Amino acid sequence: MITQTQLYTEIHQQPEVLQRLLSQERPALEQLAAALRERQISHIVIAARGTSDNAARYAQYVLGALNGMLVTLATPSLYSIYQRAPQLGGTCVLGISQSGQSPDIVAVLAEARRQGALTAAITNQPDSPLARAADHVIALQAGPERAVAATKTYTAQLAVIALLSAMLADDAQQRAELAQLPQHVAATLEHGPRIAPLVERYRYMQHCVVIGRGFNYATAFELALKLKELTYTIVEPYSSADFLHGPVAVLEHGFPVIVVAPSGRMAAELDQFVQTIAARGAEPIIISDRQELLAVAQVPLALPAVPEWLSPLVAIVPGQLFALHLAHTRGYSVDHPRGLNKVTETI
Ligand code: F6R
Repeated sequence: MITQTQLYTEIHQQPEVLQRLLSQERPALEQLAAALRERQISHIVIAARGTSDNAARYAQYVLGALNGMLVTLATPSLYSIYQRAPQLGGTCVLGISQSGQSPDIVAVLAEARRQGALTAAITNQPDSPLARAADHVIALQAGPERAVAATKTYTAQLAVIALLSAMLADDAQQRAELAQLPQHVAATLEHGPRIAPLVERYRYMQHCVVIGRGFNYATAFELALKLKELTYTIVEPYSSADFLHGPVAVLEHGFPVIVVAPSGRMAAELDQFVQTIAARGAEPIIISDRQELLAVAQVPLALPAVPEWLSPLVAIVPGQLFALHLAHTRGYSVDHPRGLNKVTETI
């Protein structure tokens, strides 16, 4: 029974994880926000892999759009294999990792600390090597995550970044919007039972693309990763802009294109994008709260309306469920995808 799998359980634990995180991690995040302010840091370098790296993409947009921060992604092999670490003075180096184990990510933090940069770890394992290498540790409060595919730790990572943004901006509206988040995620899960029968159409799908831009660029990458690791489908993530600069040529009649297009500043751009791909015969699968856009989808995946900056926390949820049900429909193990372990250590 799919409802007895760890993946199903962990996807459905997301509202309670977010609730716990938002109430318990405030003091640790206040300290990090104070350190950033005190040192007048406006450049954050993030080291992360896989799902955690997708949370880093969200940080680029949230901390960029709402806090004026420059957020860049670290280049871990420069620290580990090439032993040519860049100068990190004046930055905050942030490691994001569910497990806190991967040696290359730990190497970035260790070098940053050696150079005197401010360091912080966002992890579900506060006793991990990554946490030990950092000045500030933010725990994800997600409880054990046993399914190999990360779900609740991903949304918890996004919530930590959103909370950090609200604290840095000292913005009451942001804080109030964040407080509603667990209910929004719970409301998204209520649409879940409708997704199981919809995936049948994609049982033999061999490739597709996922499109998201702005805050939901992260969602495109994370959904593509979930579909790859759970359903073994070749899935490429793109921003709508990047896709039009060439990859659009792959489209042919019936090519599945998942578009993440909630309300917000990016909506008009993505509406135009959907028209463009539909004119080329592609099949749109749309994740949105906007009825008029859902109406043109082959498969509509509905969201509740949430402020755009928080929309990635709800937009990934129907994607997680889509990947779960498609893997199950194909007869694959949803908790233990082939050839993967829960912790991957790379150097
Ligand atoms: C995806 C997944 C992996 C991990 C990656 C990083 O669902 O589980 O891609 O996200 O191995 O792991 P952590 O976050 O433990 O560093």
